[in-house]
Order: sequence, then structure tokens, then C-alpha cells
Amino acid sequence: MSEELVQKGSKHFEKLIREQLERVRLLKSEPDWINYQSLDKIIIGAAGGDGIGPEITKHAIKILNFLLEDEINSGKVEIREIKGLTIEKRAEVMKAIPDDVLAEIKKCHVLLKGPTTTPWKGSPWPNIESANVAMRRELDLFANVRPVKVPEKGIDWMFYRENTEGEYVLGSKGIAITEDLTFDFKVITMQGSERIIRAAFEYAKKNSINKITVVTKANVVKTTDGKFLEMAERVSKDYPEVKWDDWYIDIMTAKLIDPERQSSFKVLVMPNLYGDILTDEAAQIQGGVGTAGSANIGKRYAMFEAIHGSALKMIDEGRQIYADPSSIIKAAALLLNHIGFVEKAKKLEMALDICAEFEKKIKITGRDTGATGEEFGKYIMDTIMDPKLEEKWSSYK
Ligand code: IPM
Ligand code: MG
Repeated sequence: MSEELVQKGSKHFEKLIREQLERVRLLKSEPDWINYQSLDKIIIGAAGGDGIGPEITKHAIKILNFLLEDEINSGKVEIREIKGLTIEKRAEVMKAIPDDVLAEIKKCHVLLKGPTTTPWKGSPWPNIESANVAMRRELDLFANVRPVKVPEKGIDWMFYRENTEGEYVLGSKGIAITEDLTFDFKVITMQGSERIIRAAFEYAKKNSINKITVVTKANVVKTTDGKFLEMAERVSKDYPEVKWDDWYIDIMTAKLIDPERQSSFKVLVMPNLYGDILTDEAAQIQGGVGTAGSANIGKRYAMFEAIHGSALKMIDEGRQIYADPSSIIKAAALLLNHIGFVEKAKKLEMALDICAEFEKKIKITGRDTGATGEEFGKYIMDTIMDPKLEEKWSSYK
């Protein structure tokens, strides 16, 4: 009996090894970064997702249409609605991303994505893989870039979370050998670590930031995290002008809320799961997960999203019109910046700072005690149109 179980486990593991070896092979022959400026037309896909997703995404699309009006009219940019990335459709075809939807997404260059519901055990949905995780893998969006700022505390963090490896990539491929014994797998590759660490160092160098913090648990998770840390050591040699150090995830979570220390962190880079946890903590320091946007960047595709979930509870209670669109609007600003509309992105970010942080003429509470997402979206657009936008923003800084 136990020999059979050993065989069952070995077979399972063998399959994973083969898949990952093939992945490494592909990673080694990865194409270079896409150049948006050389495209005749940049196609921006927009998928609302589930729950409050379509409601908040609508406001972000309105803002993008407004900021890109000239480019859309001249045919340089197209905003294309992507339908069908809903939990109903995903459950119907039993796929994290339905094939036809993925094909449509792949025709775009970048994607703005509302939150998608991740089925959990006991949910009314079949336990299919998270659409987020599948999309990051399918489009090879290896860098999850999450900025967090709290100006009054001197906090200006840029997180580079690895997005295609770690516990996540094999998260739906664990195995229960028996009812008593279960395994999940964590994978870290040299190529996967190198590209995310390099992206973080490049960002630091470009922005003259002389500090990178590498986060692992390499003292305990020795092989995989050890590889990540080893790659940091190696990549850092190419950037002698950037200082770096490494921290373990446990003490890192503590230091992130240490008022003495927190403003000293600048660019942080880490494997997937630690980044998942740390960026929620960081977003909370900024004012909640509803306030943070997230960029998922690969060499060919990029996807921009809110970092919060689909908030089905708000739908159940009929409160979706009061959902805070800040996070997805911030994602839209990251998108604009990524495809080269740096000035427009800056305007949008300034308007967001003014509306959500400084002036706060209207407030979103998530309930009818506050403004609707629509009102907030309009407030942002009015603020962008203010000819004194920059002056106003500077005066608050
Ligand atoms: C995030 C989310 C996702 C993740 C979930 C929805 C799968 O928490 O983007 O951080 O864990 O990566
Ligand atoms: Mg998360």
C-alpha cells in the first residue's frame, strides 16, 4: 500500500519537474521588451471582472477616454472592452480564463482589469484557479509592481513582487497523498529570480534611488529562497551604484510599521507570496487595500488592476455604487505611465492625491454615508481639468 502511495507522489512530482524544466527552457529564450512607441496603434483592453469590478472599472475607463481623447480620435490608441471574464462564465467552462476571453486579451497590448472572484472552498463556485494567478502565468506577467505612498510619514515605497513563481505557480497542483498527508510545491528558478530582481535594480537606478531591500526567508526556506537571495547577490554586481540589503519576511513585516524605520525602505523586491502579504500590509498603511493600484508587467503584455477583491458583500447589500474606484483609477495611471503617456499619468496621479488625500472635497465611505464612485470619478476629472492642477498639488506637498 505505502509503495503505491510513494509511486503516486513520485509520478505527480515527476510531471511538475517536466513542466518546470520546459518553463525554464522557454524562459531562457524569452523575447525582448515590447516597444509601445513603435506600434501603429496601442490597444488597451478593459475587463470589468466580478462583483464591484464592472462598477469601479467603468469610472476608470471614463477617465482614460477623457485623457486619451486625442489619441483615440487619431487612431493611435483604442480602448476595447473585454467581455466574459466573469465568475459565471469561468465556472460554466471550468477554466480560470475562458479560451475565447484569453484570445481576446492577447490581441491587446495592455489590460485594465477589475477584480475577479477567486473561488474558495465552500463557495458556490467550482474550485477553479484564480483568474489573476492564471493571467499572470498565461501572459507571463512576472513583475507585480505596487507603489505605496504616505507623504506625511515620508513613505515612498515601490514593491517588486515576483508574480509567476513561488507557491503560486503550483498552487493548484498540490497533492493529497492520503487524507493525512498533503503537499504543495514552491518553485523558484534562476531566470525567474533574475528578471524580477533586475527589474527592481533598473527601477532604482533610473530613479536614482540608492536602496534596495530584498525580502526572503532564506534562513529557513533554504533552497528556493536561497536561490532568490543568491540571484540578488549576483544581479547587484551589475549595479554597483545601488546599495542593497536583505531582510527576512517576518522582521520585515514588523519594520514596515516601525515609525523609526519605515521611511528608510524604498524599493523592495521579493518572491511571490511574501509580496502578496507585504503589499497588503503596505496598502493598509496607506489607507486600505482599496487605495492601492497594481501593475503586472511582462516583456510582451502588461495588466493593471486594483489590488482588492470583488467585494461580493457590497453587491449583496446593494452598495456597489458606493465602492471606492481609487485603486482601479490608480491602476489606470500606472497603465498610462507604462505605455509612455508619462505626463497624462502624472496629471491623473496628482488629481488622485488631491481628491483622495489632500483636498478631499468629497469622501467615499463604501456606504450611502459617502459619495458614489461616479461622483468621485467626476471629482477627479474636474480636478484634472483645473488649469492650476500642478500648483494646487505642489501647495499640498
Ligand atoms: C493580489 C491578490 C491575489 C493574489 C489573489 C486574488 C489571488 O491577493 O493580487 O495580491 O494573491 O495574488
Ligand atoms: Mg494579495
